[in-house]
Order: sequence, then structure tokens, then C-alpha cells
Amino acid sequence: MRHSISDSSQLILDRRSISPERFSGRKVHREIVEEVLQHGTWAPNHGLTQPWRFHVFMDGAAVGLMDSLAEAYRSHAGDAALEKKEEKIRMRGQRCNAIVALGLAHDSEGRFPLWEDQAALAAAVQNMYLMCTAHGIGGFWSTPGFLSHPLALDALGHEEGVQGMGLFYMGYPEGDWPSKGHRKPLEYVTRWKTE
Ligand SMILES: Cc1cc2nc3c(=O)[nH]c(=O)nc-3n(C[C@H](O)[C@H](O)[C@H](O)COP(=O)(O)O)c2cc1C
Repeated sequence: MRHSISDSSQLILDRRSISPERFSGRKVHREIVEEVLQHGTWAPNHGLTQPWRFHVFMDGAAVGLMDSLAEAYRSHAGDAALEKKEEKIRMRGQRCNAIVALGLAHDSEGRFPLWEDQAALAAAVQNMYLMCTAHGIGGFWSTPGFLSHPLALDALGHEEGVQGMGLFYMGYPEGDWPSKGHRKPLEYVTRWKTE
């Protein structure tokens, strides 16, 4: 056995999405963010396109980003904007000092379809989640609609040709690690063929 099956299984089953509202405020160090992203880049990707791009917002920059995104939300929602929601977005910058804007650099003239690069990016995010879990850090992939608003695009700052793929928040959870989630039984999603 090259790895402990028990440890590997526990890591995967223990992984949870933990929203920034449940973060303690303890800071995540840059070295850990680097390690998490480094492992993200070891995800499978067809043709080694390595389509992931990361913009990391830490400390003051995380506060600034979420202030800008609160503005983007307000503008995007227009008359339907809720003050409570705007405040929630702003507060995320106070609670979370490490926010990664995920980007996808897909070559539309290249050999592979968009979905394959999107799949590779999602695999990278799973690696990031797992490394966070190993550190006792909660990860949270968030893809709200207002991220497509021009004010948000400006704040996220993705390069030309890079498509925004949401935010990945990292933070230590307050109190106990959340309990196991729910999934459909395997029988429900699997058909076996043996001949
Ligand atoms: C592509 C993608 C986008 C997501 N976007 C959001 C989001 O915008 N808001 C949210 O609350 N959760 C989001 N999630 C997290 C899911 O809600 C979460 O994975 C799901 O509830 C299962 O919980 P678990 O990750 O703890 O197993 C996203 C997950 C994926 C894979």
C-alpha cells in the first residue's frame, strides 16, 4: 500500500464546504495558501493545458475585494438589493484573510473543448479543498451571479481571455469541524455491468 487507505478515506470524507460566516477570524498564512495552490496545480488536465489561474487576495486586499464586491452586488441587484446581503459580503473580507479568485485560461482554438478545462479546474479546486482539510482549514467555493458584474470583474482583475470561475475562501472554522454531509447511496447513481 503506498498510502494509508484509512487516512486517505478520512480526508476525503471529512472535506466540507465551510462558509466564511463560520470562520473564527484566525489568519491563514501565505505559506499555507501557497501549498494549497501548489497542490491544486497537480490536478489532472488533458494535454497539460494547466488552465487554472489564481488571483490571491490576502489581508487588506481581501477586505478591499469584498468591499468592491458588495458594491458590485448592489449594482447588480438594483432595486432588489438587500442591505443585509451587502453587509454579509463586506463582512466576509473581515472574517477571511485569504480569498482566491479562480480563473480559467481556455484556448478556444486549442485541441480541447471548454468543458475539459473546466473539469480540470474543478479537479484543482478539489485538491485545494483536500489540502485545506488536512490543515484543519475550511474551504468554500462560491459562484454568486454578481461576480459577472463589471464592477466585480474589475475588482477580480482576471487577465484578458481568462474566465472567472468564482471565489475560494479559506479560513479556520470556529468551534468543531462540521459533521459529515449527505450523499445519495451509490446504488442510486451507479449501474454495474459484468458481461
Ligand atoms: C462549481 C461549484 C460552485 C459552488 N458555488 C457555491 C455557491 O455559490 N454558494 C454556495 O453556498 N455553495 C457553493 N458551492 C458549494 C456547494 O454548495 C457544496 O459543495 C455542497 O453543498 C456540498 O457540500 P460539501 O462541499 O460540504 O460536501 C459550489 C460548489 C461547486 C462545485
